[in-house]
Amino acid sequence: MTGAPALVVGSGLVGAGIARRLAAAGDPVTLVSRHPPLLPPEGYGARWAALDITDAEACGRLLDRLRPGRVVLVHGPSDVTWCEEHPGEALAAHAGAADTFATLAPDALIVLISTDNVFDGASPHNTESTPVSPANAYGRAKRQAEETLLAKAARAVALRVSLVYGHEPADAGKWLNFFAACAHRLRCGERVEAPDDHWTTPVLLDDVAEVTAALLHAGHPLPPVLHLGGPDRVTRAEWATVVARALGAPADLVSPVPRARTRYASRPVNACLTSELLAALPATENITVRGVREGARLLASAFAGPPAV
Ligand SMILES: NC(=O)c1ccc[n+]([C@@H]2O[C@H](COP(=O)([O-])OP(=O)(O)OC[C@H]3O[C@@H](n4cnc5c(N)ncnc54)[C@H](OP(=O)(O)O)[C@@H]3O)[C@@H](O)[C@H]2O)c1
Repeated sequence: MTGAPALVVGSGLVGAGIARRLAAAGDPVTLVSRHPPLLPPEGYGARWAALDITDAEACGRLLDRLRPGRVVLVHGPSDVTWCEEHPGEALAAHAGAADTFATLAPDALIVLISTDNVFDGASPHNTESTPVSPANAYGRAKRQAEETLLAKAARAVALRVSLVYGHEPADAGKWLNFFAACAHRLRCGERVEAPDDHWTTPVLLDDVAEVTAALLHAGHPLPPVLHLGGPDRVTRAEWATVVARALGAPADLVSPVPRARTRYASRPVNACLTSELLAALPATENITVRGVREGARLLASAFAGPPAV
C-alpha cells in the first residue's frame, strides 16, 4: 500500500491516527496544523509542517511543494460548543478549507472526515440515504464543507464518522475522547456522570484509520458519502459502564444523568450512523468494525498502571 504522498490536514486525535496508519503502510505522509502535535510524527514515520487552513495562499504553496495524490481533511474546529459560539468562524474554516483543497488539489483523491451532527438526531439510525438536517452550528459547517467539496472536487468522499475513541495519555492535559476521559477518571476511583438519554455508535480510532486508508487506496470509484459507525448503539452511560468493567473498576462509579444537565445538551439525541454501502465496497468489505466491548478490551491495557498524580 504505497504511492503518491499523502497529506493529512489536522493533526489531532483523528488526524494523527490516520497519519500513523498511512505511514505504517509505507505511504509518505505529511501532517499539518497550526501547532505541532503532542506526539512528534517522526516517531511513527510521518512528518509535520505548519499550516493554517484559513490562509489559502499558504495552502497553495504547500500543495505546490508536496503535490499529494491523497488528501484527508480532518482539521478543526472540532469543539461543538465553540462552534455554537463562533458559527461564522466554524463555517469559514470548514467550508473554506474544502473549497481551497478542492480547487488547489484537483488531481488528488480527497477524503473529508465528517460527522453525525449533519443529522438532527430524530432518527435512531442514520444511513447515507437519510436526509440531512444539521443539529447545530458545527453540523452546518461540516455539511457546507461536504457540499462544497463534493461539488468542486473531481474525486472526493465525505466519510461521516461517529464518536471516535482511542488511547490518550494521562498527562495529555485535556482528553479529547469520551473513552479516555472515562478511563482515566475511573482508574483513579473518580465518579463519572454520563447521560443515559444520549445514544451513539462509537467507533475505534484504529478502525477509522483502517477504513480511511482503504478508501484512499481503493482502485475503484467511491460513493460521494459514506457512513462509519460502530456496530453497537449505546448511551454514554452504558458505554462508560463497559469501560469500567474492562478496566476492573466498580461499575457503580458511573452515574447516569439526563443529557440536558451535561455539556452534551446541544448534541443530537441520536448521534448514530450506520452504512448501507461500506460492507459492499471492494475496498472495505473485509474490514471488521469493532464494537464497544471489544474496543474496551483492546484499549484496557493501555490505560493500566498507577494513576497519574
Ligand atoms: N473526534 C471525533 O469523534 C470525530 C467524529 C466525527 C468527525 N470528526 C471530525 O474530525 C476532525 C478532527 O477531529 P479531532 O477529534 O481529531 O479534532 P482535534 O483533536 O481537535 O484536532 C483538530 C486538528 O485540527 C487542527 N486545526 C484546527 N484549526 C486549524 C486551522 N485553522 N488550520 C490548520 N489546522 C487546524 C488542530 O491543530 P491546531 O489547533 O494546532 O491548528 C488539530 O490538529 C473534525 O473536523 C471533526 O469534525 C471527529
